[in-house]
Amino acid sequence: MKYLLGIDLGTSGTRSVLFDQSGKVVAAKSAEYPLYHPHNGWAEQDPEDWWQAAISTISFVVRESGVDPRDIAALGISGQMHGLVMLDEQGEVLRPSIIWADQRTGEECDDITCAVGAKRLIEITANPALTGFTASKIMWVKKHQPEIYDRCHHILLPKDYLRYKLSGDFATEVSDASGMQLLDVPKRQWSQEVLDKLGIDKDLLAKVYESPEVTGHVSAEATKLTGLSMDTLIVGGAGDNAAAAVGTGTVVDGRAFTTIGTSGVVFAHTSKLAIDPKGRVHTFCCAVPGAWHVMGVMQSAGLSKRWIRDTCCEKEVALAERMDEDPYVLLDKLAEGSPVGANRLLFLPYLMGERTPHLDPDCRGGFFGLSAMHEKPDLIRAVMEGVSFGLKDSLDILDGMGVTPDNMLLTGGGAKSAFWRQVLADVFACPVQTIKSSEGPALGVAILAGVGAGIYDSVEAACEQLVELGDTFNPDEENVKTYARYHVLFQQLYPALKESWVALSRL
Ligand code: XUL
Repeated sequence: MKYLLGIDLGTSGTRSVLFDQSGKVVAAKSAEYPLYHPHNGWAEQDPEDWWQAAISTISFVVRESGVDPRDIAALGISGQMHGLVMLDEQGEVLRPSIIWADQRTGEECDDITCAVGAKRLIEITANPALTGFTASKIMWVKKHQPEIYDRCHHILLPKDYLRYKLSGDFATEVSDASGMQLLDVPKRQWSQEVLDKLGIDKDLLAKVYESPEVTGHVSAEATKLTGLSMDTLIVGGAGDNAAAAVGTGTVVDGRAFTTIGTSGVVFAHTSKLAIDPKGRVHTFCCAVPGAWHVMGVMQSAGLSKRWIRDTCCEKEVALAERMDEDPYVLLDKLAEGSPVGANRLLFLPYLMGERTPHLDPDCRGGFFGLSAMHEKPDLIRAVMEGVSFGLKDSLDILDGMGVTPDNMLLTGGGAKSAFWRQVLADVFACPVQTIKSSEGPALGVAILAGVGAGIYDSVEAACEQLVELGDTFNPDEENVKTYARYHVLFQQLYPALKESWVALSRL
C-alpha cells in the first residue's frame, strides 16, 4: 500500500492529512496561527508560523500513522492564494507576508491598469487589477519599502514557500500562479509583457509547472524536521480553491462548488477559457492540465461568522467550551430561532472590502434595518443570510457568462452547518449537496500527488474513483420566494452606499 500526504496552508491554520491510496484518511492534524491587522484593511501573516505549523502537523501524522515514511509516495501542498512572500539571497524572509485579504493596494492597482492597459491586462491575466492579487502587493513594497524590494531575490506564494522549506526548490504551478496577475492565463506561462510593463524581473519568480507535475522531493534537512523520507516526491499542488475542486471532483464541465472558509467562493470548472469582460469573477488555470475555472470570491464569508462569534457571543463560546462543543453549533441553534429574513434585518458582509461583484476595497460591513426588537439570534441569522446573498451574486454572474452548473456541491468549514446548507439551498434556489470527505483541499492535493507519482492515471480518473458525494438539501419553495425579495433589497444597498464608503475611508 502506498500513501499520499496533503498539506493545506489555510488562513486560520495548516492541516496535514495522510491518505492511503484508496483515499482513506490515516492520520490528520491541524495547527492554528494568528492573522495580523496592523491597520484597517491590512492583513499579514508570518511565514515562519506557516512553516512551524507544517513541521508540527506533518511530523504528527507521520508518527501517529505508524506508516513507513518511504511508503509515502508523494505529497502535495494547497494554500491560501495571492500572499506575497519575499526572500533575500540566503532564502530568508524579508517582511511579513501581505496576504490575500489585504486591501491596502488600491493605488497600485490603478498604476498597474495604467501601465498595462485595462483591456490588455484582462486579455493576458484574465482579470482586472485587484487589491487581493500579488502583483499589486509587489508594487506596494516596491513603492513604500524600496530598501526591502532591493534585497529581494525570490518571490513566492504561501504554499510555494512551504515547498521551498521542504525541498529547497523554487517552484510554483499554474493554478496559484494565475492569482499573481503576472501569468498569461490562456498560455499558462509568465507574461513577459506584463513583467516588463511593471518593471518586475522574471528571475524573481519561481519556475511554473502544471499542478500534478513533480517539482522535486523532500530535502535531507526537511526529513530531520518532519520525519518524512527523501523518497517522497513533491508535486505542483494547487491554490486552495483549485485544490478543493479536485477534492470535490469538480474537474469536468457542469460541476461547481461553493466553499465557505474565511473567504467564500463559488467555483465552476470549464474546459473552455471563459472571461468576464467586466472582471467581476476570476478566471484561473485549474489543476486539471489544459483546463480553467471561473470563480466569484467574497472576502469575508466564514470571517463574518467568526466576527459575530468573537464580538457578540462570548457567553456561547464559554458554554461551548464547557460542553466540549463547537461554538458555531450553538450559534446555529440561536440563528434557527430567528425567522427567514431575520425579522427584516440585512447584513452587508463587506468586513474586508469586497471582490465579487463589487471589486471595492473601501466598502465595509453593516447591518441594515436594525430595530430595538432585534436580538442576538437575528444578528447571527442576518450574518449567515448576508453571506449567502453575497455568494448568490457570484452564482448569478457565472450564470450570465453561460457557465451554468448541473449541481452545486458545498465544502469548507461553513458546509458543516446543516442550518447554513439549508439557507444556501433556499437563497440559491437550487439543491445543494455535501461531499463525504470533509478534507476538500488536502484530498485534492493528495490526488494530484498520486497522479504525479503514477498511482492514478489522471486527475479525472482519480476523482471518479475517490470522491464520494453526500446528502442533498432541497430548497423550500416558500423560503426561496422570501429570500428572492430580500436579495433584491440586498443588491440595492451597495450602490446606495458606495460613495459614503469612499468618504468613510477618507475620514
Ligand atoms: C481566492 C482567494 C481566497 C484565498 C483564501 O482568490 O483570495 O479564496 O485563496 O483562501
